[in-house]
Amino acid sequence: MRQKAEYVHSVFQSIAQQYDRMNNVISFGCHIPWRNYTMRQMQVQPGQSALDVACGTGDWTIQLARAVGKTGRVVGLDFSQNMLDVAAYKVAKEGLEDIVTLVNADAMRLPYEDNTFDYATIGFALRNVPDIQTVLNEMCRVVKPGGQVVSLEVSKPPFLPYRQLFYLYFYKILPQLAKWFVNKYEEYAWLPKSLTDFPDSRELADMFRRAGLHPVRVKLFLGGVAALHVGIKP
Ligand SMILES: C[S@@+](CC[C@H](N)C(=O)[O-])C[C@H]1O[C@@H](n2cnc3c(N)ncnc32)[C@H](O)[C@@H]1O
Repeated sequence: MRQKAEYVHSVFQSIAQQYDRMNNVISFGCHIPWRNYTMRQMQVQPGQSALDVACGTGDWTIQLARAVGKTGRVVGLDFSQNMLDVAAYKVAKEGLEDIVTLVNADAMRLPYEDNTFDYATIGFALRNVPDIQTVLNEMCRVVKPGGQVVSLEVSKPPFLPYRQLFYLYFYKILPQLAKWFVNKYEEYAWLPKSLTDFPDSRELADMFRRAGLHPVRVKLFLGGVAALHVGIKP
């Protein structure tokens, strides 16, 4: 577990400056409509509070901050300082420093009291954590009753021939793209491997329920290459 965390940490420390550009390349820009759809589903209101776990360079954090407005607050939490530095630059550029706090911490041990936030989100990062169930339990713990735990993540398409086509892209072509665009082969060869042991969308929904979230809604994007999970804390 510790080995995985250390390796993941070193990967994101190393790719922080290229992360946003590569995200657009490898997802063909699809992560933007997926994030927008997710925000519409969440129906965040002015004055609410959100914790964006493993916030990276802060794209989701910034969307949340715009939605909660000046009377709300958003915490972006990540264990890679280089990713947080990029996030801080973007938050300042958007003039959102009064709403957003960026925190260097571990998703496995969220430094917040029970029932603190209206939302806890995690974008494209559950694959990277040492123990998914622990992180979901933590997210459920810090959300208020009636609050939402939301994950947007790469997933495994249910239709087998399509899944194999996607795997060909994800495992073979994606690292080559990273080599050509930003000269980072090893780091991007590891990212697809993080999908190998990751649960499919049904199994992940079960893990949401085991964390104590009911009901759990699931939406597949592009035939299941990505999935949105939304769980409510009773
Ligand atoms: C693929 S990036 C996703 C960034 C961002 N959420 C997004 O949607 O673009 C994964 C992020 O998870 C962070 N991360 C991975 N494991 C973590 C952990 N145990 N605690 C905190 N952050 C973690 C990495 O540092 C990295 O910034």
